[in-house]
Amino acid sequence: TQVDLIGAPTDVGASIRGASMGPEALRVASLPLALERQGLRVADAGNLAGPTNPWHPPRDGFRHLEEVAHWNRSVHEAVLGSLQAGHFPILMGGDHCLAIGSVSAVAQYCRAVGRKLVVLWLDAHADANTHDITPTGNIHGMPVACLCGQGPDALTRLSDTYPAVDAKAIRQVGIRSVDAEEKRQLRALGLRVFDMRHIDENGMRLTMEQALAEVDADTHLHVSFDADFLDSVVAPGVGTPVLGGPTYREAQLCMEMIADTGQLASLDLMELNPACDVRNQTAEVVVDLVESLFGKSTLIRK
Ligand code: ARG
Ligand code: MN
Ligand code: MN
Ligand code: MN
Repeated sequence: TQVDLIGAPTDVGASIRGASMGPEALRVASLPLALERQGLRVADAGNLAGPTNPWHPPRDGFRHLEEVAHWNRSVHEAVLGSLQAGHFPILMGGDHCLAIGSVSAVAQYCRAVGRKLVVLWLDAHADANTHDITPTGNIHGMPVACLCGQGPDALTRLSDTYPAVDAKAIRQVGIRSVDAEEKRQLRALGLRVFDMRHIDENGMRLTMEQALAEVDADTHLHVSFDADFLDSVVAPGVGTPVLGGPTYREAQLCMEMIADTGQLASLDLMELNPACDVRNQTAEVVVDLVESLFGKSTLIRK
């Protein structure tokens, strides 16, 4: 397989600045080499270009809607192009608003080739806000809602179908910060949420067995990884850290179980914020986890 690394250096959807430096931090932490060690051919496509962050206050419930739409159109096109070339796209964010572009591209590709799609959304947050319920106006808190059809045309109609994704295709894991109105939205959309309480009560192993239960040989598995999925003690380099997330070990098992399906076909690495990090520690942890995601194991496994 050829992996295409696609950098999207922007923080237009975020509440604090710095995720725009994420792609370079991942390169500095040797993401390309780590992938090559797992037997993959790696093509670093460099970074996409887009508007700078104007750092305006929210307007009508959105901050930087125009810039967010612009970046997402570029991401959509780049991810779709990689998939159509038969490659494995890795989107290096950038804040999580960009998953609107990537996941909508993955869904469009899956429909075209007749493959079943499962999206694993690994995050502390549900990212299911809409303009009328968001407490912040930050669009990185809205990608899941947009993908399910709840949002402005500029963000819900990037692909050839509406809504871009069937909510039933999405499983959220690691969730522990949901806004008051957003909880109702999760219910209304019918999203499958494996929150931290679920992981506490059942363990990561059973949780992942449940989250991956419908992944079969015909499935395109997409992982949208928000670095704040990890406990903020392990991963301080994010803009919206939340305590009480998966430990390093739990996260490793999560990655290993995804790798074991053999169906992973596209990936987002989002919300890494070097301005909040300690000596690139979080980027290094993410690269460690990515190795497991692509099959690194301690012992020879059959
Ligand atoms: N729920 C909060 C909001 O709407 C935080 C969202 C954080 N999202 C993220 N991708 N880090 O602003
Ligand atoms: Mn090729
Ligand atoms: Mn997120
Ligand atoms: Mn998050």
